[in-house]
Amino acid sequence: MDDNLMDKIVSLCKRRGFIFQSSDIYGGLSNTWDYGPYGVELKNNLKRCWWKSVVYERDDIFGLDAAILMHPKVWEASGHVQNFFDLKSDCKSCKKRFKTADLKDAKKCPECGGELTGSRPFNLMFKTYQGPVEDATNVIYLRPETAQGMFVNFLNILDSKHPKLPFGMAQIGKAFRNEITPGNFTFRTREFEQMEIEYFVKPAEADKFYELWVNERFDWYLKLGIKKEGLRRRPHGKEELAHYAKSCTDIEYNFPFGWSELEGIANRTDFDLKQHAQAIGRDLVYFDDVAKEKFYPYIIEPSGGVDRSVLAFLVNAYHEEKVKEETRVVLKLHPALAPIKVAVLPLLKNRPQLVELARKIAQDLKKSFVTVYDDTAAIGKLYRRQDEVGTLYCVTIDVQSLEDNQVTVRDRDTMKQDRIPLDRLKEYLETRLIN
Ligand code: GAP
Repeated sequence: MDDNLMDKIVSLCKRRGFIFQSSDIYGGLSNTWDYGPYGVELKNNLKRCWWKSVVYERDDIFGLDAAILMHPKVWEASGHVQNFFDLKSDCKSCKKRFKTADLKDAKKCPECGGELTGSRPFNLMFKTYQGPVEDATNVIYLRPETAQGMFVNFLNILDSKHPKLPFGMAQIGKAFRNEITPGNFTFRTREFEQMEIEYFVKPAEADKFYELWVNERFDWYLKLGIKKEGLRRRPHGKEELAHYAKSCTDIEYNFPFGWSELEGIANRTDFDLKQHAQAIGRDLVYFDDVAKEKFYPYIIEPSGGVDRSVLAFLVNAYHEEKVKEETRVVLKLHPALAPIKVAVLPLLKNRPQLVELARKIAQDLKKSFVTVYDDTAAIGKLYRRQDEVGTLYCVTIDVQSLEDNQVTVRDRDTMKQDRIPLDRLKEYLETRLIN
């Protein structure tokens, strides 16, 4: 792997408008990122692909969009108030804070060699106050996972949808963790987005569905173009399991900074429903009307990070190729993920008729595909710009087009060009872009 790959990706993201440093004009807020025009398209496309595969293409999963703010007792019952912490050590000299697990020497600061405090637990939840009074009775948390929003809606889904086991809920949304050591661009941040499924099953079938979901989610990344050699499954050892999990397998991607977690698939057993039931003093059970019995279902949870996936797809798509002694940078993103599907480029911008035709074509195509129009440079440069952001097809309008009503369509990956009659252009693109 190219040693500078991460730097190249960070630079491309800023230069071309995928991802910017948050609050840039104030010097930036460290490890916090804003998605620019291409980034937001890529991120939305990724979320749409996930939603399509886990909600629209199935009959057994219901979508949800729960509030970020939840009753503070949720986090007591879920175990996050007591258990959701990392061990940290502080340097007495430079005051830097470290995750104890990352330290080679638990006594010396890795930055300045100063003496470290002993390791102390540090809760990762962001705490704030609800309403005008800042006191202990008004403490509220920014959710550290979207999952709890689904557990607390278990009864609502039973009562409104009357599903039979197995069934699930799916949700995409922001989560917040006051990470001690964020870093690696968008990989570990304090504000991030998760895409999570809570899949309710009969306890006896939990192992079967756990395996099934590990494979299902692994294949999802492959289908969207992640190279097989860049993806692996890593089962957790007992000592690294979260407080709620009986088993967990991570799907890891081989980032330039090493193999790291993209998504975790956990067997959460009946832990969460039982904890909430105990806290509210009411059963949160499923009634099996064939067996005529009530029981707590087990939960299989595939939990992925949107930002980490976006980063993995960017790394996976980044290619440099030599074309006529020049380096062509091209993002070979899957067609469903590419931010822009079509770019319409007039070959000459000083021919009003040609520009007018190109603009009209772009306007027509916009109704069907995400299309941009660009006439601000010579054609070679326009192609390079589109390649760098992963645009799938460039439609070039030239002088000849005015006479024969044909345009040239260039494929991003092969750079092969086809001459297509204008009245067949939409159909030509549709067969390639609508999957
Ligand atoms: N509900 C289970 C849960 O939250 P997790 O393994 O802590 O499990 C799930 O998080 C996913 O959320 C991770 O696989 C990762 O993709 C993403 N994620 C977690 N912490 C993150 C962070 N600080 N920055 C970016 N993404 C994060």
